This record gives sequence, structure tokens and C-alpha cells, in this order.
Amino acid sequence: MASEQFENSRNETTGEKGRISELISAIKPSATLAVDAKAKALKAKGEPVIGFGAGEPDFATPEFIVEAATKAAGDKTMHKYTPTSGLPALREAIVQKTLRDSGLPISTSQVLVTNGGKQAISNACLTLLDPGDEVLLPVPYWTTYPEAVALARAVPVEVPTSIEDDFHVTAEELEKHVTSRTKMLILNSPSNPSGAVLSESELSEIGDFALEHGLWVLTDEIYEHLTYGGRPLVSLPVVKPELREKCIVVNGVAKTFAMTGWRVGWMIGPNDVVEAATNLQSHTTSNVSNISQMATVAALSGDLSAVAEMKVAFERRRQSIFKLFGEIRDVVCREPEGAFYAFPSFEKLLGREIRGVKVETTVELAEIVLDLAKVAFVPGEAFGAPGYGRFSYALADADLGEGLSRLIELFSEVK
Ligand SMILES: Cc1ncc(COP(=O)(O)O)c(C=O)c1O
Repeated sequence: MASEQFENSRNETTGEKGRISELISAIKPSATLAVDAKAKALKAKGEPVIGFGAGEPDFATPEFIVEAATKAAGDKTMHKYTPTSGLPALREAIVQKTLRDSGLPISTSQVLVTNGGKQAISNACLTLLDPGDEVLLPVPYWTTYPEAVALARAVPVEVPTSIEDDFHVTAEELEKHVTSRTKMLILNSPSNPSGAVLSESELSEIGDFALEHGLWVLTDEIYEHLTYGGRPLVSLPVVKPELREKCIVVNGVAKTFAMTGWRVGWMIGPNDVVEAATNLQSHTTSNVSNISQMATVAALSGDLSAVAEMKVAFERRRQSIFKLFGEIRDVVCREPEGAFYAFPSFEKLLGREIRGVKVETTVELAEIVLDLAKVAFVPGEAFGAPGYGRFSYALADADLGEGLSRLIELFSEVK
């Protein structure tokens, strides 16, 4: 979505403006949700679809969290509007949790509770960016970032990474894309879709780069607990305390506690930015559902044993998906380091035929795989990385095995 597209928004013959605003017409629908919807629709029709598309854990929300919500629903004070910035008990729980898990000391005034991490990202972009500001976006990126940037009429600037480097962005590569208009960098580690987890020294170099150029950094840590192979959880403002005045941390309970439907996230930032973002949110969505907020207080104040159990399952599935992709000829897959996604390259399959159909792009490949093997995945185009595909391994072990054997079988027919 580029601003020059707006020039073409009038009807060429009548000169009339379109029904939908220029800004909103230019947004791409969420490709990840679209794949998931198509797979669910086929499933509802009785097709044996195996979905690797959804970015959500297959587990139920832990019972102690659900109980806290049930209790809150019976409390009449929870039936009313509450402060936009979040329930005091939740903001305090976020302060404690941030210190416990990341080692970052913050105060409650630095926290804004949002409708999922998604709203935190949107709030941050609208609060910090002016039209024409440039935002550095390492590729592959989570599909919402460029749209959130563009909704602030700012410009996403793609920064390449490579599969050989496990999709780790470097300060050196970022440096090549800075201009006098660059205002922000968006980082996401562990990454959706690549699974890349940046190390402390990499974060330190990137932090120095941001400081040198006076950039803001939005660091999305929503997959913080899902790192594997002994990789530690590292948070940029802890690695680089000098950056705290220009750093927005985005987080939420969706992925860690299997709470995607509860819609609770938060942003942490300097007081003035959080105050401005709270003003914005007071005119858009006001407070997040009190019931969900109380469930989140329970999630953040409890121990992390339920999270540890889920992580054991993700770790097992990570190993099996990596092993199975290794068995498919012409598919290159690196070992995912975090989150719950594998991001294999299908580049060697493109331009070839599957059952008589020539496949030129990964969008076409995803369609043909869904039609013929009844396996759903999200094509890399959704993440700025054509030629790749995102496979969520947050699905049952048996489904994962069956889905990958169907792929192995189908791809054995590629000519
Ligand atoms: C990297 C990343 N950030 C943020 C989110 C938003 O999560 P939610 O709005 O469900 O809290 C997602 C969800 O897919 C994500 O993958």
C-alpha cells in the first residue's frame, strides 16, 4: 500500500470518489486469516483438511484462567466501563510479570492494556508516525506490520534477511536502508513467520544502530516464552537500557496462554507515548473487556507450569516438522528457533508441474496443495517472502504427521 496509489482513487470517467476511503481500500486482507477461513470452510463441508495455517495454539486456555473469568463475570463492578488504560490490578500484574520474565523494571503509568497485541501495534504506529515517515521492516515480517504502518500513512521499508542466516536481520543490513525519513524499526523476536530468535549480541548491535540514528524501536515480544534449544529470552530494552526512552514493547497473552480469543495484549513505553496512545484508544475501543482483563490477571500472576507443558508439546512438534521437511526433496527448511512456525523454501519447486499443472508462485502452490492434498499453509507472499510457506506446528501431533506425509506424497509427483 503506497501513498501514490491514492492518486488513482477517483473514477477515471466520472471523476467521482470511491465509496470506500482511499486509505482503507489500499489495505490487503489478512492472508493468514483468509487461509484459515478457507480451510475451516472446507472442513465444515466434511473435507479432511489439515490446517497448518492458523497462528494459534491448539490447547484450551488453562482452567485456572477460565475460573478467574467466570468469577469476574459474576462481579457487578466488572459490568461497567473501566479506565481505558486497563484495570489497575492488570497493569500492576503486567509490571510484575515484565520484571519477572524480562528483567525490565517499569511503572504502571508505562502500560496500556489493549485488545490483543494487534491493537498495541496499531496504537503505537498511529501515535508515533507521521505521513511519509519510513519504518524499517525486516523480511519476512508478520503480515499486519506493513498495514499498521500504512494506516498511519507512513511507509514500510523492507529489509532483507536470508534463509542461510536463519532469517536474522543484521545491523549492517538495516544500515543500508536508513534515510533521513526513517523514524522506526519493527523487530519481532521470536519471529512470526520465520521462527528466528535474535541473540543478545545481535540485539545489542541493532540497539546501537537504533541509538546512532535516533530511531524508535517497536519490539514485539508476543512469543517470548517460546524459544527452543536453550535459547534464552532476551528483551531489547534490557539489553540496551539507553534505548528505553525510544522503545515500545508489545506483548500479550494470546500465544503464551492459549488465549487468542480473549483479546488481551499491552504496550509498554515512555509515559508521554502511553498517555497519547491511551487518548487514541479512548476514542476507538475504550477499555478491554473486564472479564478478559481479570482472566489475564490470573494468567500473569500464576506460575508458568501450564506454559511449560505447552512448550514441551511445541518442542516435540518442532522437531518432527523439521525432520519431516528434511525428507522432502527440493524443499529447504531451517530448524525453527522459536514461536511455533516452520518457514520452508519451495523455490526449487516453482516453475515445475504437479499433476499436469504448472506452479509458478507459492500462492498457486498453496492453492494446489489445499485442493489435492487437503493441507492448508500460508504462502510466503503474505509475509513479503514469495517462494516460502508458513506452517504453524501448533496442531495435534497426529495431524502434523498426516499432513506432512500427504505433502511428501504430493511433492514426489513434482516434475
Ligand atoms: C508477531 C505477532 N504479533 C502480534 C500478534 C497479535 O496477537 P493478538 O492480537 O492475538 O494478541 C500476533 C498474532 O498472530 C503475532 O503473530
